Amino acid sequence: MHLFQYKNGELYAEDVPVRDIISEVGTPVYIYSHDTLLRHLMAYEDAFRSIPHITCFALKSNSNAAVIKLMAKHGGGADIVSGGELFRALRAGVPPGKIVYAGVGKTEEEIRYALKSKVLMFNVESEDELKELDRIAGGMRVKAPIAFRINPDIDPLTHPYISTGLKKYKFGIPIEDAVEYYKLARRLRNIDILGIHKHIGSQLTKISPFVDALKKILALIDKLSKQGIPISYLDIGGGIGITYKDEAPPHPSQLAQKVLPMLKGRQLTIVFEPGRSIAGNAGILATKVLYLKNGHKKQFVIVDAGMNDLMRPSLYDSYHHIQPVVKGRRGAIVADVVGPVCESGDFLAKGREIPAIKRGEYLAVMSAGAYGFTMSSNYNSRPKIAEVMVKGKQFALVRKRETYSEIIKGEAIPDFI
Ligand code: LLP
Repeated sequence: MHLFQYKNGELYAEDVPVRDIISEVGTPVYIYSHDTLLRHLMAYEDAFRSIPHITCFALKSNSNAAVIKLMAKHGGGADIVSGGELFRALRAGVPPGKIVYAGVGKTEEEIRYALKSKVLMFNVESEDELKELDRIAGGMRVKAPIAFRINPDIDPLTHPYISTGLKKYKFGIPIEDAVEYYKLARRLRNIDILGIHKHIGSQLTKISPFVDALKKILALIDKLSKQGIPISYLDIGGGIGITYKDEAPPHPSQLAQKVLPMLKGRQLTIVFEPGRSIAGNAGILATKVLYLKNGHKKQFVIVDAGMNDLMRPSLYDSYHHIQPVVKGRRGAIVADVVGPVCESGDFLAKGREIPAIKRGEYLAVMSAGAYGFTMSSNYNSRPKIAEVMVKGKQFALVRKRETYSEIIKGEAIPDFI
């Protein structure tokens, strides 16, 4: 059940009226539902309970400490792509043995930090990176546990900006070259081959790309085994989509139905890296209507959340449902819902039919729990906004709104000015 629901015309987050949160915390504010986050994590846990697995929540989708802690408390791990995310994961209590580290550009400092922290494995994306890992691990007198990120050249049928598994993108190692890479890794003294990784893209609404990619990867595992290279971890990445508008993405249980039979008889621990499918529909962005403006050609609803707070519409032209926090009895209008940032690209919705709304009223931008706050910035010197988590009738500030002095913290004026 969706936990952002109307009761008597008023939008609730679980059992808390969104209006109550707004009166205490102000706007704009991200609001996350504890029970939705948990239910989404459990959907993976339950679907794959019959086999060894780790659900590594993709921190890039939502890295608030409270969210990570919730995942860790219920058995989840973390998929990280930077030293900063490693820091967050460890601070929130994710066991290092449940952390997988991806990304094409890991720095020496980050690699050292991850080796020292004993993460489960590095998802390696190039020969250079492999050799660097070997060198650094050797210097530290440890072994670097690795998986290669394999690019299976499968079209995930999603937006090109969030598609990764095709040859033309920077990610992974071409599947045809994979055996050579593994052979090279075997020759390196400070490398420990642990697994294989793939992630073909995000917001996937069909199962077939997962299945096609998995078939290719399993065939590769068999090839490697013939070469005497055993694989114990199969990381199938993230990518299951969510409903923003009318998409009907697969549920983890449907994925399990297809995937479990394919894994029968194999001694593999499966790793998942879901981000959006856990956090996306577990969060909303509440914003205040500052002004209404009737242009010659268009009507504008100007709100206090901008592209710096939620970048997805501007960057990907993505759709987020927008609805009033308190339903009125007025008709509908068609408008662009825009923010205060000085860019024409600063919009949350274009030409959207929404219920007629007045100045001072509030709107909720739905499906904003993933890649919302994490992609936000201080552009136009706008403070990062507050984040709140709701559980039943309670709610808590899980990140306070930034102050102006926090924005300039770290800046300095040199003597020569
Ligand atoms: N694993 C890897 C290696 C990834 O690159 C990603 C996402 C994930 C897991 C998590 O994927 P998910 O389950 O969330 O689909 N900013 C974009 C999405 C970028 C996704 C990048 N990689 C957006 O707002 O749609």
